[in-house]
Formats: sequence, structure tokens, C-alpha cells
Amino acid sequence: MLTFTLKVVGIEKRTPDVVTIFLKQPGLKKIKYKPGQYLTLVVRINNRKYIRPYSFSSAPGIDQHLAVTIKRIPGGVVSNYLYDHVKIDDVMEVMEPMGDFVFDLNEPSPNHIMLWGAGSGITPLMSILKVALNTTGNKKVTLFYCNRNPEHTIFYDELVELEEKYPDRFKIYNFYTRIPEDVYLHYFIEGRIDETKVVDILSVNNDLEESVHYICGPDGLKQTVRNALSILKVVHANIYTEEFEVFIDAQQFDDIETRQVKIINSGVAQQIEVTKGTSILNAALDQGIDLSYSCQTGTCLLCKGKLVNGKVKLIGIDKLPEGLNADDCLLCCSYPYSTDIEILTIY
Ligand SMILES: Cc1cc2nc3c(=O)[nH]c(=O)nc-3n(C[C@H](O)[C@H](O)[C@H](O)COP(=O)(O)OP(=O)(O)OC[C@H]3O[C@@H](n4cnc5c(N)ncnc54)[C@H](O)[C@@H]3O)c2cc1C
Ligand code: FES
Repeated sequence: MLTFTLKVVGIEKRTPDVVTIFLKQPGLKKIKYKPGQYLTLVVRINNRKYIRPYSFSSAPGIDQHLAVTIKRIPGGVVSNYLYDHVKIDDVMEVMEPMGDFVFDLNEPSPNHIMLWGAGSGITPLMSILKVALNTTGNKKVTLFYCNRNPEHTIFYDELVELEEKYPDRFKIYNFYTRIPEDVYLHYFIEGRIDETKVVDILSVNNDLEESVHYICGPDGLKQTVRNALSILKVVHANIYTEEFEVFIDAQQFDDIETRQVKIINSGVAQQIEVTKGTSILNAALDQGIDLSYSCQTGTCLLCKGKLVNGKVKLIGIDKLPEGLNADDCLLCCSYPYSTDIEILTIY
């Protein structure tokens, strides 16, 4: 995996709990990325290395600098550290861009791009919409965006500017969940994005057959939009989703116990304790083993290992992604399910 060291050239607070960090492209070999992809930051905090992916909010070919936009997660180690401590002229270690939640200009795509987001889920959508509006000439873009109120709406001003710049091609439906009664707002929809509202809005659309959908937000939003699109007979292949975090049902841990697991990493075997509820990846990282990873949602495959002995249970994802062998496992979504587990790391 290629890594780069980039200089922080700008910092902008977007909302009371969201910050954008602008990074300078390397002088010679520019980092190439597609709208919708993410950049993985490698951050050292109190002598421990943490790795976290953040979708590009910048748009390739349009924005001079690379940008990631980060929302503080209560109790979150890296998001709070980045929000509180990163400053201009710092250097950041990053991995090469990854992800297949992309709007690819080189591929033919339907004429109407519909983007569905909530909160920080706007980041990859922002990159996609800037590219779609700036470079495609005739494609229409509609954004359905749910937030508490305008103050907590990331990119509020930029989005209004884009809507004014492209009045015939770009429309925003703002959904607000907490608007004080004495606040006057021009136009918004009250409450969350729900199935009935989506069906009502889209039923009057006469180009649904020519639409492609990108959804980025919590699991509930994804399910809601998927259900509504299925009622409206939008073809499954035209719906893309991005996960920032996997949804874990606590009941899935009922048959998991704290166990010892043997990890063989770079030829060195180490016995680690994996406590109930902790993934094998996180247990190994906590015990100082330097493993490769990024997404922790079972998509980047960087945490792939070979299950030499024993059984693991997948939690957070239903099945292993295509292309993996039966004895492969993804440490970020694997939990001990037998004694004598032995895993050989691959990257
Ligand atoms: C492909 C991808 C793209 C991403 N892009 C962005 C982005 O553009 N902007 C952004 O702000 N974040 C993004 N994330 C999430 C980001 O990578 C981190 O997971 C997030 O910042 C939390 O990290 P942390 O170290 O602060 O929290 P941790 O210390 O890892 O976790 C603390 C607690 O927060 C929970 N948690 C972790 N992530 C989330 C989350 N996203 N929402 C709610 N609870 C969470 C954990 O379950 C845990 O209980 C993305 C994630 C993925 C997989
Ligand atoms: S860290 Fe990405 S698949 Fe496990």
C-alpha cells in the first residue's frame, strides 16, 4: 500500500462539530482519486497508531487541494483529536485513495444523479455533485439531505451557491429534524427522510428510469431509501451505498466468549486475548500488533488473514466479499468462535 506525507494547508470549521482539513498535493506525483473515494489517515496519538478512512469532500480536477471533512464522534479517539489538534503546517501520513462508491466520468451513467445523505454522509456526495455539475454539461443532480437544522448542515453555504449557479440542473431537498418554532426558513421538509416522503417526492419525477442513486448515511437512511426506490421500481444496479460504520446487533455476541487467538504477523506468532465484543483486529491492535487495515466495515480487504485453524464468526457483515477464499477472514469483522484459532496475516 502506497503512503504519502502531506502538509496541512488549511482548516475550516464547518459546523460546531465538523472541520475540513485541506492537504497539499505532493509536488511531483499528484494523488489521483475519483469522486466518492476516501483517503485513509494514519494518526499517532499517545504513541499508538490509529488508522481511519475519510471520504474526500474535495473534487478531483476542480479543487486545488485534497480535502477531508471530519465530524466529532462522542468518545471517538481520532475524530476528536483531528478536530482539536490539527493545525496548518502539520504533516499527515495518508494511504492511497480507495473505495468503489464512485461516480466515474469515464463510464456511461444515467442523466439524473440523485444523492441521499444525512450529517457527515454529505462528504463523498459533495465530491460527486461538484464533479457532476462542473464537468458533465447536462446531467441533473438532486440532493436529499437530512440534518438537525441549517446551523448543523455541513456545506450549507456552498450548497446554496451551487443551487444558485445551476438553477436548472441542481435541486436540494433539505430535511430538518429540529427547527425552533420562532425560526423562519425559506423551504425545508420537516423530519427525517422517510419512505412516504421519498415516494411522494419521486412519484412526480418523470425521469426515474434514467436515474442513479448514491446513498451515504446511517443504516436506517439506507434501508428507507432502498425500500422507497424498490416501490418505485428503480433498478437495483443503479443504487450505490457507502458505509461509514457497520451496524452491529448486540444479540450477535450472545454466543461469543473471550478467547485466546494466535496471530502470525510478519513471521512472528503472538497469542492475544480477544475479549467478548472486541473484533480480532481491535484486540490485536490494542496488544501492540501492527496490522494493516482501513475501513473496518469489511470492504477494503486490507485486514485480510488466512484462518489456519479454528472458527471465527462474522459480525457486522453478512458474508465475505466476493473474491475471498473459504479460509480467508477479515479481522475487522471476525470474532472468535472456537478454541485453537490461528490466523496468518496477509498484508
Ligand atoms: C469509507 C469510510 C468513509 C468515511 N468517511 C468519513 C467522513 O468523510 N467524515 C467523517 O466524519 N467520518 C467518516 N468515516 C468514519 C471515520 O472513519 C471514523 O470511523 C470516525 O471518525 C470515528 O472515528 P473515531 O476514532 O473518532 O471513533 P472510535 O474511537 O473509533 O469510535 C468511538 C465510538 O464511536 C462509534 N463510531 C465509530 N464511527 C462512527 C460513526 N461514523 N458514526 C457514529 N458512531 C461511530 C464506535 O462504534 C465507537 O463506539 C468514514 C468511514 C468509512 C469506513
Ligand atoms: S479494515 Fe477494511 S476490510 Fe477490514
